[in-house]
Amino acid sequence: VSLQSKDIISIRDLSKQEIELILKKAEDMEEALNKGEILDIMKGKVLATLFFEPSTRTRLSFSAAMHRLGGSVIGFEGIQQTSIAKGESLADTIRVVEKYCDIIVIRHPKEGAARFAAEISKRPVINAGDGANQHPTQALLDLYTIRKLKGSIENLNVTLLGDLKYGRVMKSLVYALAMFNANLTLVSPPTLEMPEEILDEIKEKFNAKIFQTNDVQAGIRKADVLYICRIQKERFADPYEAEKIQKTFKVTKEMVEQGKKDMIILHPLPKVTEVDQSVDYSEHAKYFEQVFYGLPVRMAILSLVSE
Ligand code: NCD
Repeated sequence: VSLQSKDIISIRDLSKQEIELILKKAEDMEEALNKGEILDIMKGKVLATLFFEPSTRTRLSFSAAMHRLGGSVIGFEGIQQTSIAKGESLADTIRVVEKYCDIIVIRHPKEGAARFAAEISKRPVINAGDGANQHPTQALLDLYTIRKLKGSIENLNVTLLGDLKYGRVMKSLVYALAMFNANLTLVSPPTLEMPEEILDEIKEKFNAKIFQTNDVQAGIRKADVLYICRIQKERFADPYEAEKIQKTFKVTKEMVEQGKKDMIILHPLPKVTEVDQSVDYSEHAKYFEQVFYGLPVRMAILSLVSE
């Protein structure tokens, strides 16, 4: 298997063998990072990061990954300082940027924008989030983190808790976890359930075992891995609706203490109202370790795509 010149737009674009290749490469990258090795795999190569939506980790970790590989980075965050503010189309922006770089990473509020960019670009395109649709590289670093901290993914009880309707991280992750035979428990506030067609798809393709509930405590009790994401307020037609749900939805230290002793808690971040700060100090909370793994995993992706 090879990922050379491949676009990574949806987690569905990757076979299990390709995911294994990325995770294995990430191990090598992590080892090099821990040894403080200077790498020059991407020397002379340029990564363009085009962020039409806010980001901290995804953009910085892609940039850091490229720098750690000896390459360089161009791009923008927010469109105010670009010609898009003058009315330039996404198609034209991509036609221009691809002339300056070897790989494009794009985040955009519209579902399908990354796929559209990939169709136009001769350079490989990596989706760093398109609206409420997909965020495949987050799912890859989540798989890597779970393997690191739990040994394997197969038959693990993973509870996905939060906004499963708009959370693109959850949509990529649920597919990846089903592919690796995890037992899935899905917990969301009413009205924010995972879309049925995604559940039907993973049942059909992977024979996924899925349990759905609105009972947060029940979801926590079952979990070997508790994966939380925030209410995606910016995707609501009515932000007041989101605020109402936020008020009723918070994981506290007391709730977490009802869980298994060796349960780990992951979160793609940013955390806002859905996790009480007291949880940060619990032994279970592993989200800042998870952040670190974004670096070797994105180094692996960049190097495999450009090999
Ligand atoms: C996520 C995103 O942008 O979808 N952030 C991230 O990349 N870690 C999660 C979120 O915004 O809730």
